[in-house]
Amino acid sequence: MTAIELRLAQRDDLPELERLASAAIDRLLRPFLDELQLAASSAIMGIDAKLIDDGTYVVAECAGTAVGCGGWSRRRTLYGGNHVAGRDDGSLDPRLEAARVRAMYTHPDAARRGIGRRILEWCEEAAAGEGFGRLELVATMAGAPLYAAAGFGVDSSFDDTSTGVAIPLLRMSKAIGRSRRHHPDRRRRGALTISWSPH
Ligand SMILES: CC(C)(COP(=O)(O)OP(=O)(O)OC[C@H]1O[C@@H](n2cnc3c(N)ncnc32)[C@H](O)[C@@H]1OP(=O)(O)O)[C@@H](O)C(=O)NCCC(=O)NCCS
Repeated sequence: MTAIELRLAQRDDLPELERLASAAIDRLLRPFLDELQLAASSAIMGIDAKLIDDGTYVVAECAGTAVGCGGWSRRRTLYGGNHVAGRDDGSLDPRLEAARVRAMYTHPDAARRGIGRRILEWCEEAAAGEGFGRLELVATMAGAPLYAAAGFGVDSSFDDTSTGVAIPLLRMSKAIGRSRRHHPDRRRRGALTISWSPH
């Protein structure tokens, strides 16, 4: 068993994280969608480099290999990769608005070992540390069970039709505490260890 470590993502992680996200979409989102929806999802999903620049995006590493990534944002954009139109980099007001959870991906060979949950815990702690009282996100059908397990409730459902194909999505949110501090390496609930064999 090897320990999973979280560290802040850097710009030069982007190629590896884009590959990880593609593999996650292709294998973990595939069971929930048809081929057209999967292709459309690939077109709108991905990594948002703004979160890396903001220091709000982490990589989960196992023996030096990225096995997951995800983060949160104090900016308005709700979802979508670097390339998607209609983004809004405006700042959210922590006293009145919900921080975002963004771009969560686990390598398919490392799925269901608690990596997504661990990254969410970090997001929650970090956003609460900046005074946010709520987290909000847009969930894929693959992401919804993770968020539900982490205490998020469904606020509404909608289809993203920006590609001409209807992709089913859920808007979900959760109240969070206000007084905790954050650090990417903080292991409040103990280290997560998984068995992992890269292919
Ligand atoms: C969503 C995703 C990040 C989850 O990552 P993960 O590391 O496998 O999730 P975890 O192992 O932390 O799961 C924690 C809990 O969430 C729930 N859960 C996660 N994936 C689930 C699934 N496919 N089916 C049912 N429950 C699931 C379970 O309760 C799980 O606990 P358990 O394994 O003890 O039963 C991953 O499936 C993924 O990359 N999907 C494709 C990309 C995507 O759609 N991302 C979401 C964008 S909103």
